[in-house]
Amino acid sequence: MLGLLNDTSPQWAALAREHLDVLLADHAHCELKAAQSALSLLARFAGEAPELTAPLLALAHEEGAHFAQVEAELQHRGLSLGLPATDDYAQALRAAARATASGEPLLDRLLVHALIEARSCERFRCLCTALPSGALQDFYRDLLTSEARHFALFYRLARNRFGHARTRGRFDVLRLAEADIAAGLGHTALVHG
Ligand SMILES: [Fe+2]
Ligand SMILES: [Fe+2]
Repeated sequence: MLGLLNDTSPQWAALAREHLDVLLADHAHCELKAAQSALSLLARFAGEAPELTAPLLALAHEEGAHFAQVEAELQHRGLSLGLPATDDYAQALRAAARATASGEPLLDRLLVHALIEARSCERFRCLCTALPSGALQDFYRDLLTSEARHFALFYRLARNRFGHARTRGRFDVLRLAEADIAAGLGHTALVHG
């Protein structure tokens, strides 16, 4: 799915369903981090790549709106946001990208973002299959289509700037690393846990 080489185990979805308080609080933070990292990508690269400005500003805005939606869901359930958990998955993926650096930091950053969006989409789809039908399942079904769109956005930004062959080649390296990292997950109810 979306270029990913493996699927999340149903065991993770069962865990997430059982610990919705943990999942929702972490998910809210993930949306906030997505908004922040779109802006930090802009701060670092908009000078050399001005074509990033409009789409990444729109993305930051959309991720902020997602945060507000998840945060409202937490409040509705009488749950609190708490402090952000460390995202070991994203950290490991960034470390793998650094360890195999392509020499084009923007290409690497865009494709790491693409993979995180793809995995989030796949996780939400997995969660949807475990949730009973109802408002929360509908909510995650809506969100997974947004994450799929964000994957496509980051991939397209990379391809438009670096060309099809180079983007594809680099994506193939990173998605192998991603699959390795993802294979070791599934033991906590965090979005990337
Ligand atoms: Fe989002
Ligand atoms: Fe996203």
